[in-house]
Amino acid sequence: MSSRRRVPHLTKVASADDSTVDASGRLRSGVHVHGNNEGGLIQRFSANGPERGRRGSHGTGAFQLSFKVMLIGDSGVGKTCFLMRFKDGAFLAGNYIATVGIDFKNKIVLVDDTKVRLQVWDTAGQERFRSVTHAYYRDADALLLFYDVSNKASFDNVRAWLTEIDAYADKDVVVMLIANKADIPSRAVSKADGETLAKDCKVPFLETSAKSGQNVELAFMALAKDLRHKEMAELNKPKFTLQEYVTTEENKSSCCFS
Ligand code: GTP
Repeated sequence: MSSRRRVPHLTKVASADDSTVDASGRLRSGVHVHGNNEGGLIQRFSANGPERGRRGSHGTGAFQLSFKVMLIGDSGVGKTCFLMRFKDGAFLAGNYIATVGIDFKNKIVLVDDTKVRLQVWDTAGQERFRSVTHAYYRDADALLLFYDVSNKASFDNVRAWLTEIDAYADKDVVVMLIANKADIPSRAVSKADGETLAKDCKVPFLETSAKSGQNVELAFMALAKDLRHKEMAELNKPKFTLQEYVTTEENKSSCCFS
């Protein structure tokens, strides 16, 4: 793995109870990191930040692989709701509180008999927190880059976000473009436009809704599969292609529900 950038020395207050964290919702001040992990411990990050691509076990939930996934994109595109949907299966409508700084949640998923812990970092979309969040890019194994299909400006900003990824993230980072709020009928960005941009930028693409749950699990499972495949270097197995996987799985679910 590549050398890592140092991140600011931050205090992480972890809670054993996810709902405690959800109730308070977001960080209230400064650059404190408020997260929750399976162990329910209070701990400090090392100067190098959270570990990536690590094999091991932790706290109450044993896992074999651990990956760091960051959610990035403009403010209000639905990053926090997306993470909440994945972790808790819930959607809090009309309860928008902008994220302050950075926050994370862990979830263990089973990928082809391997327990994979996804440590998912929810970042603040607001410009004023960029210098804090940039420091975390380097340690990310994967980045979900969001726009909101009902907000053209958030779509127009995707290229600027990709420039930031180029500048701050590891060159091997897995990036996927997420077109969130697909449940909204009054769109500002068509699916075709999203797909074209993603092709242009050579990143996989998926339309999702944190509100309905559409493709939320699929996005994380696809990342987990891709990262596991790379980590295990299963040369004897067929190459895993993220876009092919999400397209196949999306078609399967749309044919079952139509
Ligand atoms: P920052 O923390 O400022 O970066 O914003 P964010 O990207 O985390 O957005 P957040 O998840 O807080 O959602 C912003 C608003 O969009 C909230 O009012 C949510 O209820 C709403 N929202 C989020 N996801 C969806 C979705 O999939 N569909 C619809 N209709 N609304 C959504």
